Amino acid sequence: MERELSLEIVRVTELAALASAPWMGRGDKISADGAATTAMRAMFDTVSIRGTVVIGEGEMDEAPMLYIGEKVGSMQGPELDVAVDPLEGTEIVAKGLNNAMSVIAVASKGNLLHAPDMYMEKLAVGPQLAGHLSILDPIEDTLVKAAGLLNKKIPDVTVMILDRTRHETLIGRLRKAGVRIKFLSDGDVAGAMAPAFPESGIDMYVGSGGAPEGVLAAAALKCLGGELQGRLMPADESEYNRCLQMGIEQPDKVLHMSDMVGNDDVIFAATGVTPGEFLGGVRYLPDQRAETHSIIMRAKTRTVRFIRSLHYLPNKPLLNGNNEITSVSALKE
Ligand code: FBP
Repeated sequence: MERELSLEIVRVTELAALASAPWMGRGDKISADGAATTAMRAMFDTVSIRGTVVIGEGEMDEAPMLYIGEKVGSMQGPELDVAVDPLEGTEIVAKGLNNAMSVIAVASKGNLLHAPDMYMEKLAVGPQLAGHLSILDPIEDTLVKAAGLLNKKIPDVTVMILDRTRHETLIGRLRKAGVRIKFLSDGDVAGAMAPAFPESGIDMYVGSGGAPEGVLAAAALKCLGGELQGRLMPADESEYNRCLQMGIEQPDKVLHMSDMVGNDDVIFAATGVTPGEFLGGVRYLPDQRAETHSIIMRAKTRTVRFIRSLHYLPNKPLLNGNNEITSVSALKE
């Protein structure tokens, strides 16, 4: 992939973030997601790729756009796998909370796992712990090992987890072990990425969240030198069969980085919608400007760029009240 593609991709997450930000706190996650999805889909037409959505808004019959298998891009340029979450944290935006972002990972064709829409058990760490831990070990042993490698005492280790009743037992074990816990209300792509940013203060991410989000986080961690191990959690026979249909022959096996992201020809981009662990949210400024904060990185070079953009809103393709893009021509300029 050409490195110039990075800037094209981040323009897509920026527009999706700008489109969904007006919905912050309005209690309407469907419209917030619809706005981000419409904007992302339209902006993709300007990107010089022949992309196929491998992780998206759902199956063709359930999602009007950015569905799995949909072709995106200008249909000129490299053939790529595209994983998107136009609005990662729909509920967060609806409730006006932290950590929502718009996310894209692109990789050369065949290099991203087609993850079924179900839960995945996850263990994510930054570069210092990458390659040293196993999701199969009891969490107590993992914490002791991690503390040793980080040269910390157990009470100084901070673990992040989604605040869910299904995590009650795991949270009990973490508390008994004596670590600090940082709870997330939603948005576990950012949660799983957090340990790769020392300034986040998070050492490890554990617990279950969406499998598609797991692959997106794995793509990000590939660029950051971290690691995510996952295990799909099919809830019933139909979810188990769904794994098989999607080419995952052993649905209960541990998925390592190489199972989720085949090689280092990967670009990951995210733009904050609401403020988060490592990205600011969309901020409205005087003079009809809005500020966005994005991260863009390539696994090949492991360069991590933070981009602060000031957008002049009258020149942006805007969405009308029905979440339709009103000025498609502006996209191309
Ligand atoms: P959405 O943006 O689709 O609402 O997902 C938010 C999210 O918190 C993900 O980050 C996470 O992987 C998943 O939901 C967890 O699912 P659940 O809310 O069912 O625990």
